[in-house]
Amino acid sequence: MRSHIRCLVLILGAVLLPAGFRIQAADSTTVTNAPLRRTDAHGNPVRRAITGHISNYDESRVGHYTLPDPLVLADGRSVRDAKTWFNVRRPELLKLYDDDIYGRVPANAPKATFKVAEIDTNALGGLAVHKLVLIKFGDKPDGPVLQLNEYLPAKATWPVPMLLQIVFFSNPPIPDPAVPSPSQTRRFRFPFSEAGPMTNIIERGYGYATFRYTEVQSDSRDSFQSGVIGLTLKPGQTKPAPDEWGAISAWAWGASRALDYLESDPDVDAKRVALIGHSRLGKTVLWAGAQDPRFALIFSSCAGEMGSSLARRDYGETIDDIAVNFPWQFAGNFQKYIGHWNEMPVDTHELIALNAPHPVFITGGTGDQWSDPRGEFLAEVAAGPVYRLLGLKGLGPTNFPPVDTPVITGDLGWNYHTGPHAILPSDWKAFLDFADKYLKPKPVGALGSNLAQ
Ligand code: GCU
Repeated sequence: MRSHIRCLVLILGAVLLPAGFRIQAADSTTVTNAPLRRTDAHGNPVRRAITGHISNYDESRVGHYTLPDPLVLADGRSVRDAKTWFNVRRPELLKLYDDDIYGRVPANAPKATFKVAEIDTNALGGLAVHKLVLIKFGDKPDGPVLQLNEYLPAKATWPVPMLLQIVFFSNPPIPDPAVPSPSQTRRFRFPFSEAGPMTNIIERGYGYATFRYTEVQSDSRDSFQSGVIGLTLKPGQTKPAPDEWGAISAWAWGASRALDYLESDPDVDAKRVALIGHSRLGKTVLWAGAQDPRFALIFSSCAGEMGSSLARRDYGETIDDIAVNFPWQFAGNFQKYIGHWNEMPVDTHELIALNAPHPVFITGGTGDQWSDPRGEFLAEVAAGPVYRLLGLKGLGPTNFPPVDTPVITGDLGWNYHTGPHAILPSDWKAFLDFADKYLKPKPVGALGSNLAQ
């Protein structure tokens, strides 16, 4: 299913999309040196990595692994209180992720400046106020500019809580077809669900803002000289230092700059901003939330390897695949873990735990075994001790819950949907119910009702 969707996206990208929306060749395909590229009887991708590793989908062959303990300091002492977690262990883990996994943001990262370029007080048939905000990085006239499309519930009492989503294509997002928007006719409709159910989001009392990830940094091989990373390189330098940012760090940094803008917007309560991303952007939002505690809540959809699933589990995609196929998304240093997963000083439960005390909602899909949904669930379970140390709840169940049964009673949330590598309507519903507990929006009701008055 996933490969069909990828093919469809590529074909549509080549044939239908206007130039501004065209996908870069390496954007959605797995560029691989591996000779073996097939699917198994269940449609799961089977890859032979350069290490000779072949994708495994047999739970009995996942192998034994020992996860690093998030509550043990580098010097071997235990973390027994919140103060030691925040002052010592958390910085230790962040440094490990900075140095070896996603790469640190260099000190000369560009400044961002904001400009509200358009305001439409009658968007979505009067349901929302739309602002198009341009976030410019650096001061080169032709430098990168991010377009943030921000929708605020027109009838709400402002400031409102906000859902900020990093998207592949849907910017501006596709409104609910029941609420036609003039912009819809001009814009490309993404062939599968990516953007949220806008009408419902707005009616629930949230603002909704989206930006496109490649406006911060390109998602392709050998493209470091462009985007925000390019602005930080010295003349003649073709890539960042081995411990400096790859694209995931750059996208996460871009999300923080969008939050800087939201902090400056009096119509938004910037203390109630949830950050949302799918797949590689699901990896990005977990890393953004780990670094920037201003994000109040994180929704990471189908983030899989080096995102939400445990890397030490040999199931679906592995480090041997991702580090070779998508090297630009990581720090140069990450390459040393190809074939050496167990030597990695961190694993995903720690990335999730770095988001504490903020709640995190994670999803997986039955048709997305490449992302190892069980490994995603187990990573959340293993993040639990950190949440509990801080007086919060972990996920709750420790046995893999049945499909289509959201788990949203703890401070970590989970949904395993029946379906593909995508954010499905059922994920949005579970996420919004989870988010309501924390962000406490005031529903404005459907267009025409007077709930907010
Ligand atoms: C590839 C990659 C995944 C990633 C996905 C995506 O499939 O192997 O790790 O999550 O692309 O971003 O769509």
